[in-house]
Amino acid sequence: MPEMNAARGKDLFAERGCVVCHSVNSVGGNIGPSLDASNMNIAREPFEFFASMWRGAEQMLHLQQADLGYQIDFSGQDIADIFAFVQDGEIQERFTEDDLPDHIRDIIDNGPSIPQN
Ligand code: HEC
Repeated sequence: MPEMNAARGKDLFAERGCVVCHSVNSVGGNIGPSLDASNMNIAREPFEFFASMWRGAEQMLHLQQADLGYQIDFSGQDIADIFAFVQDGEIQERFTEDDLPDHIRDIIDNGPSIPQN
């Protein structure tokens, strides 16, 4: 298993756009379920976490096409670090609006485009 870095995961969570649809510490959107560590619905096991993330994949792909204008790309290490962040209640308490890059904050404020089903 890779070394996991929750502090780096915190940055990735904002920068890669997870926060557009998922809140942590009440920061972020509510299109997907909250990923607070206290939310018992979050997979506690990395492979299960990735599998459940996959279920939101259609919306993520839509977000990158419609709103982000760049591809959301992950290395295995990125996923591991995001997983660590999602498990880490202490680091999550330090997640605030100040962690959001401007272009991500804009998408949250304007509301992301939702795929039409
Ligand atoms: C454009 C919106 C969007 C983005 C961006 C997004 N997700 Fe999701 N995600 C969803 C939706 C919607 C679901 C619920 C899918 C379902 O259950 O049908 C979901 C589900 C999940 C789940 C399962 C949660 C549970 O309780 O079962 C995890 C974990 C998850 N996403 C992680 C992430 C991570 C990590 C990122 C960033 C890399 C991310 N998501 C980015 C929309 C998004």
